[in-house]
Amino acid sequence: MKNYQQQLSKLGIELELLEHPEMVEVVDVLRYLDKPISESFSTLIMKADKQYVAVIRRDDTKLNNDRLRKVLGAERVEMLSIDEFEELIGLPRGAAHILCPVEKTLIDKRVLEKTEVLGGCGSLIYSGKYLSKDLNKIPNSEVVDIADEKEEIEITKLVKDGVIKRVLSGITPSGSALHIGNYYGAVKPQLELAELIPETNYFVADLHALTTVQNAEQIEENVTGVVLDYLALGLDPEKCVFFRQSDVPEHSQLAVVMANYISYGQMKRMHAYKDKLAKGANEESINMGLFNYPILMAADILLYKPDGVPVGEDQRQHIELTRDMAENFNRTYGKEVFPLPLPLIREDVGRLVGTDGERKMSKSLGNTIGIFEDYSVIEKQIMKCFTDPKRLKATDPGRVEGNPVFIYHDLINDDKSEVEELKTRYRAGTVGDVEVKRKLIEAHKRCFLQARERRDYYESHMDEVREILVEGAKKARKYANKTLREVYEVIGERNKLNT
Ligand code: ADP
Ligand code: TRP
Repeated sequence: MKNYQQQLSKLGIELELLEHPEMVEVVDVLRYLDKPISESFSTLIMKADKQYVAVIRRDDTKLNNDRLRKVLGAERVEMLSIDEFEELIGLPRGAAHILCPVEKTLIDKRVLEKTEVLGGCGSLIYSGKYLSKDLNKIPNSEVVDIADEKEEIEITKLVKDGVIKRVLSGITPSGSALHIGNYYGAVKPQLELAELIPETNYFVADLHALTTVQNAEQIEENVTGVVLDYLALGLDPEKCVFFRQSDVPEHSQLAVVMANYISYGQMKRMHAYKDKLAKGANEESINMGLFNYPILMAADILLYKPDGVPVGEDQRQHIELTRDMAENFNRTYGKEVFPLPLPLIREDVGRLVGTDGERKMSKSLGNTIGIFEDYSVIEKQIMKCFTDPKRLKATDPGRVEGNPVFIYHDLINDDKSEVEELKTRYRAGTVGDVEVKRKLIEAHKRCFLQARERRDYYESHMDEVREILVEGAKKARKYANKTLREVYEVIGERNKLNT
């Protein structure tokens, strides 16, 4: 490591070390450090005909093999196997750095679009933060165009093609109010789907909330808050089935069954559990509800046999585990009982940044912008928002890309020409942060005014709300019970001994 740092500094390459628990997979490191995948790169060691080359590409892009072959003038280009890698580089898999002993290093030009990028530095317990402009200083390196943006699942296309006809999603009432990250990342896409496809099911996952809320009044307050927020934001109970998890006992029943189609090892690799450990929790005292959370979530999903599950990026791993469980179940009984649901995650808003400008917006991090709080609260949240740290005076040219205030403007502000004008003036150094934020506060008021009125309406018509949930639970139970019976039959729990 020391040696590596010395080599870098001789080349004039700056390196900042970020420490983390021992991790091999990039996704785990990024999650721990709470960095987006677009600001990380991997150094791939490849064999091009007879020569070894390193290829640096951003982790949200994929290599285009045809272009890579052309650039190298090689017929065959392939990744080294783990053994070949470890023998040649002398480092464990996952620890490649930017000065590996190869003939040349190709850097995809997309890496340079970011100012700072995270990458390997020869260790599994450190990652390096590099300035992308320094990467040009790697000996025998060349910037080339050899990667493509990863194709995202185009949700609208899947809907149009009829691949997605039925969806399900839930939200945990771990707090009593939704924030704009929840809204743009999860709720809005869910409500849009309700307009497009025939069967949408959304529920408030109150049993999931027990992992963090163990106070009956608080649970009630949270469930009520989230139900009102959903209705206020435009959920139409005529168009989708809206219910509360604990009203449908089949969720808990299927969870007991599904626990048998997943291994302890796989469960131990789940983020929510690993995050707790990484934050210093003692393995002995981990709440089993938290450990089992992904099993209940898989049951929530599989009961309704959805084609897709619209959620934010942080839920992807849970859906992948659900697919594994469903596949394992189907294989065990030789029957396609459960279709494998697709994660429906929007690249653009699946991970909205918080007002600290660094981590994902999340209620537990205190970096949110609310929707229904008093305006005085929302104003404070917006006014304290991080902008461009390099800009000291309003007359300095500012950075718009990646600036949270402008990310929020793009989402919230319906006056697009105002947004464009603010961006131009910000870049030129002719508008101050305060004015940009004031305009955001105004835009927030315009954007959510109707929702706030609707919320007031429902709050004073709680009978209607209760009725919506009763009706929702009835419809949900009908479907859920049918699936549970089918499952019981397939596994042999329903047979001629039952009544
Ligand atoms: P929080 O992190 O505030 O506790 P939850 O975990 O309750 O939020 O998430 C509820 C839903 O909102 C999930 O589908 C999640 O993926 C989505 N979500 C949460 N935070 C964000 C965010 N910052 N950007 C996009 N989606 C988010
Ligand atoms: N885990 C999700 C969250 O934290 C909530 C959830 C529970 C969910 N069960 C689900 C989401 C099933 C989609 C499908 O918000």
